[in-house]
Amino acid sequence: MILEALAPLLRVPALAALTRDSLLRMDPETAHGATINALRLGLAPQQTDPDPPELKTALAGLELSNPVGMAAGFDKNGEVPRPLALMGFGMVEIGTVTPLPQDGNPKPRLFRVAGAEGVINRMGFNNDGHDMVYRRLQGLRVPAALGVNIGANKDSSDFTADYAKGVARFARLADYLTVNVSSPNTPGLRDLQQEEALTRLLYAVLTVRSKAPVRVPVFLKLAPDLDEPALDAIAKVIARTDLDGLIVSNTTISRDAVAGLANATETGGLSGKPLFNLATRRLAQIRLRTTLPIIGVGGIHSPQSAVDKFEAGANAIQLYSALVFGGLDLLDRIKRGLGAAVRNAGKRNISELVGTKTRAWAADDIDL
Ligand SMILES: Cc1cc2nc3c(=O)[nH]c(=O)nc-3n(C[C@H](O)[C@H](O)[C@H](O)COP(=O)(O)O)c2cc1C
Repeated sequence: MILEALAPLLRVPALAALTRDSLLRMDPETAHGATINALRLGLAPQQTDPDPPELKTALAGLELSNPVGMAAGFDKNGEVPRPLALMGFGMVEIGTVTPLPQDGNPKPRLFRVAGAEGVINRMGFNNDGHDMVYRRLQGLRVPAALGVNIGANKDSSDFTADYAKGVARFARLADYLTVNVSSPNTPGLRDLQQEEALTRLLYAVLTVRSKAPVRVPVFLKLAPDLDEPALDAIAKVIARTDLDGLIVSNTTISRDAVAGLANATETGGLSGKPLFNLATRRLAQIRLRTTLPIIGVGGIHSPQSAVDKFEAGANAIQLYSALVFGGLDLLDRIKRGLGAAVRNAGKRNISELVGTKTRAWAADDIDL
């Protein structure tokens, strides 16, 4: 109640910054819980001006008013997709959701690598499970594309069947689905990126999708820790399916970009700024192998890094970790920066920047 009364004050930028600083002083998972609560209470700033027309984006049949999304893992349980959409995200991806609820790994399991604006997490798909999340989302009006990211329970005897259940459950409710085979925190999950397993998984998932009354777009979310032969194999598999797109990338298990920094040796997936070069290179390398839509994720932390993703080959982008350090107004800055980049290039729409620098990003000449 007190928080609700304070809502108008918290929308004042100076106070919002103060809140961010105090969030950064808290234990990271506590701070995340407080942010979700604040959003639930309507404390987040809401977008006032409409998105610039340059940002209108068609993505796998979805009509987005802007191509900037909230990445999976922020709202694992679908508690705040509407407030996130009202803040101005063009898409909001909830999850990862697994068939059964699960607690995830023991705490602490979320760490800031403050020296590099990085985050390491080994959450382990803590989530409320299909039934509860479905009930929460049912009938909800979300003024953005709503993605549901699906995964497998840690102790499941059949990972593929878990994904099929996710498609069956959420196909009618979601605007798009993401098949997440790239979290490093569920043992064995990333093996689903290998040729045979991926073929079987996509066949199962897309067969269930074809039986749903509406054709929901399905994206496959990949790890950045794949070498070029692995990318070749994935490109070969997906070319034989009617998958709608890719999300590149999830967190990395590599630590090269944060070696020696506090928390760098924690087990889990690294995200945020130190992931940017690696994830953007993988994005470009995959862009060279497919014409499918790609959502570029990983380390976006500024308007320029957002522009870079499009130039490397992304058709839309998502972010999460930088919001921890940059605050929620980063979204507005990124959208304004994208609009300006389009106009400065003498173009009319963000789609005209896609892939203009793919070869440079795909090359091995940037130190990762
Ligand atoms: C705390 C945390 C939890 C995450 N949980 C998930 C998840 O459940 N499913 C998923 O597909 N990605 C998850 N991610 C990965 C993000 O969606 C994203 O791919 C990655 O963080 C890179 O983007 P960023 O550098 O902008 O954060 C998580 C990331 C973080 C930091």
